[in-house]
Amino acid sequence: MTDVDPKARIAGIFDRAAPTYDQTGVELFGPPGRELVRRAGITAGQRVLDLGCGRGNVLFPAAAAVAETGSVVGIDFAPAMVAATTQAAKDLPWVRVTHGDADYPDFPPGSFDAITAGFMVFLLPDPPAAVARWSRLLRPGGRLAVSTFAAATAAGEAFYRDRTAALLPFQTPEPARDEQSSSSPEWVAALFAGTDLVDVTMTGLTVRSGYPTVDTYWDWMLSLGARRQLERVPAEHEQTARAALGKVLDQHLRQPDGSYRMDTEVRLTVARRPA
Ligand SMILES: C[S@@+](CC[C@H](N)C(=O)[O-])C[C@H]1O[C@@H](n2cnc3c(N)ncnc32)[C@H](O)[C@@H]1O
Repeated sequence: MTDVDPKARIAGIFDRAAPTYDQTGVELFGPPGRELVRRAGITAGQRVLDLGCGRGNVLFPAAAAVAETGSVVGIDFAPAMVAATTQAAKDLPWVRVTHGDADYPDFPPGSFDAITAGFMVFLLPDPPAAVARWSRLLRPGGRLAVSTFAAATAAGEAFYRDRTAALLPFQTPEPARDEQSSSSPEWVAALFAGTDLVDVTMTGLTVRSGYPTVDTYWDWMLSLGARRQLERVPAEHEQTARAALGKVLDQHLRQPDGSYRMDTEVRLTVARRPA
């Protein structure tokens, strides 16, 4: 079996996730988006490029920080993400959302004061090459800020292992893929090694997400890149797969009030182009 073009496959997943991405009432990408903008030091009047903008978890805090004297361009290759975020930004004339490949943003060198990439660099075929291209779009002194998933705690690893095992019997085989979901500090540092960016700083953030029910958790998974795991469960197996997932949630994430809670470790990395 031959895989479809990896970028088209990823764009398809996020296009199907877009209507509910970050809309299920479960918080995950909001806090890191706001914190990434804060750590990038984005201020009024600046020009910002947001790569893989999705539904705007980084783009809207950046838009608030630059305000009407600045500008923000968001790029995403999932048309439904672009449509939803364009609509949400309709009253912010200094924000533009475009459809395109963030791997090769087409702007003159030195165009931006800050470039942000929220949870997308690890989805690219050659992340260090992309970071090198992005760095040339920064003006001297400009900052590049990326967020990635950090390694889970031992308890988190055990949960993910059991979640994968619980769904496996119900899933159709997965096409080959090589994008990673969690990135070590060494992997992130290597992104910048071939660039002239300096002052690479990494900070961790723990995001706590709450799920009232198993169905909330299922719908939340469908709203993220993780939906690829549920799309592989045929409709006739869905109820049994939900029950199997529920057992894993009960074992690992259940709270005294019967709801579920989970912590996700993320890493925010900012680097600067020398002045
Ligand atoms: C996990 S989501 C993150 C969205 C947003 N940055 C946030 O922090 O919530 C990744 C986004 O990157 C987009 N994306 C991934 N690779 C891309 C590429 N090569 N070009 C444009 N968009 C891309 C996806 O379509 C998706 O909207």
